[in-house]
Amino acid sequence: MGAPLAGVKVLDFTHVQSGPTCTQLLAWFGADVIKIERPDGGDATRQQLQDIPGVDSLYFTMLNHNKRSITIDVKHETGKEVLWRLIRECDVLVENFAPGALDRMGLTWDAIQAANPRLILASVKGFGPGRYEDCKVYENVAQCAGGAASTTGWRGDKPMVTGAQIGDSGTGLHLALGIVTALYHRVQSGRGQRVDCAMQDSVLNLCRVKLRDQQRLARGPLAEYSQYGEGIPFGDSVPRAGNDSGGGQPGRILKCRGWEQDPDAYIYFIAQAAVWKPICDIIGEPDWKTDPDYASPQARLPHLNEIFTRIEAWTMKHDKFEAMDILNAYDIPCGPILSMKEIAEDEALRASGTVVEVDHPTRGSYLTVGNPVRLSANPVTVQRSPLLGEHTDEILRDVLGCSATEIDAIMWSGAVGSTPKIAAE
Ligand code: COA
Repeated sequence: MGAPLAGVKVLDFTHVQSGPTCTQLLAWFGADVIKIERPDGGDATRQQLQDIPGVDSLYFTMLNHNKRSITIDVKHETGKEVLWRLIRECDVLVENFAPGALDRMGLTWDAIQAANPRLILASVKGFGPGRYEDCKVYENVAQCAGGAASTTGWRGDKPMVTGAQIGDSGTGLHLALGIVTALYHRVQSGRGQRVDCAMQDSVLNLCRVKLRDQQRLARGPLAEYSQYGEGIPFGDSVPRAGNDSGGGQPGRILKCRGWEQDPDAYIYFIAQAAVWKPICDIIGEPDWKTDPDYASPQARLPHLNEIFTRIEAWTMKHDKFEAMDILNAYDIPCGPILSMKEIAEDEALRASGTVVEVDHPTRGSYLTVGNPVRLSANPVTVQRSPLLGEHTDEILRDVLGCSATEIDAIMWSGAVGSTPKIAAE
């Protein structure tokens, strides 16, 4: 059996992070992802945050694995012709240009449908229809507009964005699901359709529990938020909750041994009701098992600060990994705060293919994150990102069936860039 998306041709007209995240996933599932880039530099991220001068950045390489690259100036007459020929050959066109850019290129939905009624057109925009629909959007804007920033950080302090790229990569993941669903639908309908994901919507989808809390707030204070135990009244919208657990089980980040020197010597500790008794024994408060002020989850809510201070007095005696071992033996849900250095060096993550080392002809070897979605019948090999225009000739020949003379003519027209020469790998 081949890869699940073998035979699906994806015209990858994406750049930066949101779109490339989506098409990288499709490539990992076996689609032939053809990345179209401008001949003058390509995807802007190739040059952004470069750690080695003149070499594709990690920003680019880590988001564009398993793809092919063709350079086309789609504003050049011959370039436009090549683009339309590719549209007729492909199953999916994915793009995340600014609102209106596709129409300005002449790629209206009507024109696309006329050229290839089976084509699925998938787009990321910052906002859906409404007052901001024409705005350009990057990650942190989406986090702010999608409810993540107003609910992240500390009470009484500024809103805060998170390091997880929920706006960009989060939207790319949503879009990939939409594309695969549309491909499945096409099997029955025989027709393509549009798949639209707005970054604001994707962030809000990931902040669903906060909209839950907004509605609970109308019926009374949110007892699992630490401000409840501190007697601080709630306003009319969901407050920032620091590191309080988002679920029904109270949790906090607690110091572990070495926290004075190591900024990541912490553990996330969840005082799950089911394991309250072993927690009391471990921290040396056996009386709390029966004391009516502590024995039930409801009774504990006003005392959470006191309880977590007591638990922290215990965690501070252990390093985070030691604490994990002790707590795990009793099924107490907890997790070490891992630094990126620890993650990069984690042998288990390397062995599982979550952290992968990849070779690149101009960069040498680098670390990346493998496909986090595992199919039992279809293991994925992570292949390096393409150099700019690396497959221009190959795509013109194999996908469009161009003859050598035709390829020469397209090259001479100036509509496509030249294919880079690569030393044998
Ligand atoms: N040949 C010729 N022109 C090309 C081209 C090619 N191969 N590829 C792109 N272009 C042109 C586009 O047609 C557009 O031209 P226009 O402005 O004349 O219409 C231009 O390049 C730039 O596109 P744009 O999307 O406006 O880039 P930008 O760098 O100004 O904006 C974003 C970047 C991300 C803010 C914007 O694309 C956006 O808001 N995208 C949607 C939301 C999104 O995905 N954001 C997250 C990114 S991680």
